[in-house]
Amino acid sequence: MTAPRLHLVRPMPPEQTQSDTAPGAGQVAPSSTGETEAAAAVGPASTIVAAGDEARPSTVRPPVALWVEELTVSFDGFKAIDNVTLLLDHGELRCIIGPNGAGKTTLMDVITGKTRPDKGAVYLGSRIHDLTKLSECRIAELGVGRKFQRPTVFPQHSVYENCELALTGNRGVFHTLFARLSRAERERIDQVLETIGLADLKGRPAGLLAHGHKQWLEIGMLLALDPKVLLIDEPVAGMTQPEMERTAELMRKLAGERTVVVVEHDMEFVRSIARKVTVLHEGRVLAEGPMSQIQSDPRVIEVYLGT
Ligand SMILES: Nc1ncnc2c1ncn2[C@@H]1O[C@H](COP(=O)(O)OP(=O)(O)OP(=O)(O)O)[C@@H](O)[C@H]1O
Ligand SMILES: [Mg+2]
Repeated sequence: MTAPRLHLVRPMPPEQTQSDTAPGAGQVAPSSTGETEAAAAVGPASTIVAAGDEARPSTVRPPVALWVEELTVSFDGFKAIDNVTLLLDHGELRCIIGPNGAGKTTLMDVITGKTRPDKGAVYLGSRIHDLTKLSECRIAELGVGRKFQRPTVFPQHSVYENCELALTGNRGVFHTLFARLSRAERERIDQVLETIGLADLKGRPAGLLAHGHKQWLEIGMLLALDPKVLLIDEPVAGMTQPEMERTAELMRKLAGERTVVVVEHDMEFVRSIARKVTVLHEGRVLAEGPMSQIQSDPRVIEVYLGT
């Protein structure tokens, strides 16, 4: 079994200090599945969680939602991600920007289990789930939703049915459409449709929706599963200006309830939603901070914003 990648001295969220770390907090050996539900553990955010006792954690500092730790990914010797560490707070809206080939999509691929890293770990929430050891399916079940750049909706099915399929998809399309949803599930879909602004179009076949509406529907399909962390890759590519503005509104609305990570090249859009921004360049974190600081960072201007 690989040695656990947990250290007593570890990166702290900006507002935390080293003295917050529990004295004598021990290391823990995650199981080969990357989950430590059976052992007493020190979580990636230094929350001590006893076995089967999530409700009574001895919190050393507020847990982070997602912790990417010293991640490296190579393709034939080329490092697409090179020792990247990221800490995302609960409810944070984080924008990740950077030139083509910087490693943004690869980072999402690793978080969602599509690509395995050479080195490093990805921890979700206050319990230890090293996502790099889990299947894509399990990662989705744990609450990581991912939206790809191109919308992938079921065109013949209505907007409402698409959300239904997302919610119960593992039971198969035929079964799902004839199965009765519980009241709670129906309410949840209605709520999602309100959130994404498609309540009035719920009977329309998804294939007939405008591009922007399809993008929102796909976000809605993810929301139906109530993810803790939502990863969204280039949401406004191909959108009209009004669609882009409504997407910005949607991103702001979603953050707070959950952690949202948005990768985007459109700087007007990024400026309109950005709080904290991470700049990737050649697989590394070049800069990180508030948008105002990032925009005036000469290194960022040189490799990205100035082009
Ligand atoms: N499966 C793969 N096999 C080989 N190389 C890959 C693979 N996936 C990504 N790469 C390479 O890794 C680097 C990072 O790619 P990635 O798609 O993560 O960049 P990106 O930041 O998302 O770029 P863009 O802004 O163009 O979407 C690129 O050089 C890319 O060619
Ligand atoms: Mg990409």
